[in-house]
Amino acid sequence: KLPIGVLVSGSGSNLQSIIDSIEQGRLDAEIKVVISNIHDAFALKRAQNHSIPTLVISHENFETREAFDEAIVRALKSNRIELVVMAGFMRIITHVLLDAYPGKIMNIHPALLPSFPGMHAQRQAVDYGAKFSGCTVHFVDSGVDSGPIIIQAVVPVLDDDTEETLSARILKEEHRIYPQAIQYFASGRIRLNNRRVMIAEGQCEMSTAL
Ligand code: GAR
Repeated sequence: KLPIGVLVSGSGSNLQSIIDSIEQGRLDAEIKVVISNIHDAFALKRAQNHSIPTLVISHENFETREAFDEAIVRALKSNRIELVVMAGFMRIITHVLLDAYPGKIMNIHPALLPSFPGMHAQRQAVDYGAKFSGCTVHFVDSGVDSGPIIIQAVVPVLDDDTEETLSARILKEEHRIYPQAIQYFASGRIRLNNRRVMIAEGQCEMSTAL
C-alpha cells in the first residue's frame, strides 16, 4: 500500500472521497497523516472519524513560507510518506517541499488547466462565459497550478450557473478523478515523458475519465 500524506485547508470532501475509495478497496493506499494549516478545518474531523492521524501546522506560526514548508516536510518524512496529496490545500508551496518530494506531489484544481488557475477558478469560468469547465489533477511544479496533467474531467457551464452551482457540479467529478489519479500512481502506471504524463495500459475499469 502506498503511504500518502494529505494536505488540507477546508471541508475535505476530496479527502473523504480518497478515504472512501481506500475503504472500498479501489485505491491501494494508506493515509498515514492528514495535515491542515487551519486548526478548525472540517477535513480534520473527517480524518478523525476514520481514525486517521491528524496534525495542525498553522502557517501563521512561521516567518516565511519556507519555514512553514520545512515543518510540513518534517511531518511527512517522519510518517514515511511516498506521495503528497494536496486536497483543497490553500497555500502556495516553495522549493523546500518540492525538493523533498520531486515528482511526488499531486494537486486538484477546479478548472480545466491551463484555463483559470489561481483562486476562485469556478467563479472565473462563470464570469468569463466559458461553456465548459471541469477539474484537473496534476503534479505540482514550481509554478501556480502549472505542473504535468494526470487526469481532467469536463462539465458543462449552464446559462443560469452561479459559482456555487458550477462548483458543486465540478466537485462531483473531482471526487471521481482524484482517487483514480492516485491509484494510477500507486499501481506504478504513471510515466513522465517530456513533462507529459503517460498512463500505462492496465486493468482500467474506470478508464472513461481519460
Ligand atoms: C476543491 O474544489 C478543490 O479543487 C479546490 O478547493 C476545493 C476543496 O474542497 N482547490 C483549489 O482551489 C486549489 N487551488 P474540499 O476541501 O471539500 O476537498
